[in-house]
Amino acid sequence: MKFFLDTANVDEIRQAASMGILDGVTTNPTLVSREEGKFKDNLVQICEIVNGPVSAEVVSTEAEGMLSEARDLAGLHSNIYVKIPMIREGLKAVKTLSSEGIRTNVTLCFSASQALMAAKAGATLISPFVGRVDDISGVGMDIIQDIRTIYDNYGFETEILAASLRHPLHVVEAALIGADIATMPYKVFDQLFNHPLTDIGLERFLADWDKVKDRVS
Ligand code: E4P
Repeated sequence: MKFFLDTANVDEIRQAASMGILDGVTTNPTLVSREEGKFKDNLVQICEIVNGPVSAEVVSTEAEGMLSEARDLAGLHSNIYVKIPMIREGLKAVKTLSSEGIRTNVTLCFSASQALMAAKAGATLISPFVGRVDDISGVGMDIIQDIRTIYDNYGFETEILAASLRHPLHVVEAALIGADIATMPYKVFDQLFNHPLTDIGLERFLADWDKVKDRVS
């Protein structure tokens, strides 16, 4: 499973990248709006930190506008994947971009039927938003499972990027289902390391070692 960070914050990305297990980054207009500086400069900086896909989202709602934004974004750096919203005009743009070799991430996906349409249009990645479905009393993870089954039934190459993950269990469940990628906030990435028994165990090992350290060599 690939791990992406869901943020536009360069410090968080640097911190996660230093662990050596960060595979990519997803941004969206909300995440970008929280950061200082120029959008495109920040994007290029992120691409230089992360050796993998960096998603940047278009804001046009007509296919023509999306295409022109997408070509511009894709030209900024070879790591850029263009995020396109899961609407009819979006899928028209995805089809054209796919024929041009521009990689896409279809975002705001909330159903298996949408994911099926995105795969048929040639999306490189599909982003089903798990947490936002949970927020309205649905079971977001069921959508990931349905998409996995459908994509495997037909051999679609579109990768499933489990998005809107809010806690470590979301990541584990997505991994059990076989989602290709999990994108998560830095807080969730960091929480994945934690277990109180690890901390208690290490403390005990070190204390016991301290008692015998004079006899070690
Ligand atoms: C995915 O690419 C989105 O940026 C993101 O996961 C949305 O998460 P949220 O529902 O926590 O805003």
